[in-house]
Amino acid sequence: MMKSKLFILSVFISGLFFTSCVESRNNPGYAYMGHFDMYYTKFYKAYSPNPILPNGQTDQPAPAGSVSRGENYFPFAPKNIAEKVADQAKAGIELKNPVPVNALTLSEGKKEYQIFCMDCHGVAGKGDGHLYTAGLFPAKPRDLTSPYVQNMPDGSLFFIITEGSISGLMGPHGVQVTPENRWKIVNYLRELVK
Ligand code: HEC
Repeated sequence: MMKSKLFILSVFISGLFFTSCVESRNNPGYAYMGHFDMYYTKFYKAYSPNPILPNGQTDQPAPAGSVSRGENYFPFAPKNIAEKVADQAKAGIELKNPVPVNALTLSEGKKEYQIFCMDCHGVAGKGDGHLYTAGLFPAKPRDLTSPYVQNMPDGSLFFIITEGSISGLMGPHGVQVTPENRWKIVNYLRELVK
């Protein structure tokens, strides 16, 4: 009699051990000092209303002029020709070419040039690419070995590749070519006149 009671009791106790662990996996269980804030941090979800922050919203827009990490994008798509002229000059003053000139970066710049520029500007950059000479592209591409181009600072050339030419006859290539490869192309353009 005594033995069977003990047996039932031990089954019941060991049952408690198992059930207490699996009751709810989403519940952290009993919290010691649970009434303190540091246990249950109060926070606002990204899209929830917010009583403290501007416009009553939790998610705030990036501050004006923010550039995402790893990007070197100058500055915003200009609206008219005067702004584009000013930005192209400003880019020449403010943007510094971060890509060192060496055999590797030049060969990469050459490869990018051959992919993205050569069809219009020609093998040697003289503005005599196949698309133009075959009459497939109407506007005369600029001679990239000319003083007009070579006298521009690196930043302005980077800007032209990114945004296109001021007149718009050459389109922007900022989407196709990564910033780093744009600088490599700029270095390669210098190589064309050496
Ligand atoms: C679809 C043809 C085409 C392609 C592709 C092209 N260009 Fe041009 N590019 C032109 C034309 C046309 C002009 C002359 C633009 C003008 O007169 O506004 C020009 C002008 C330029 C200029 C001088 C800017 C100016 O105001 O005249 C530079 C520098 C230049 N291109 C570099 C490049 C580079 C580098 C690439 C490759 C990333 C490239 N281009 C790709 C057609 C092209």
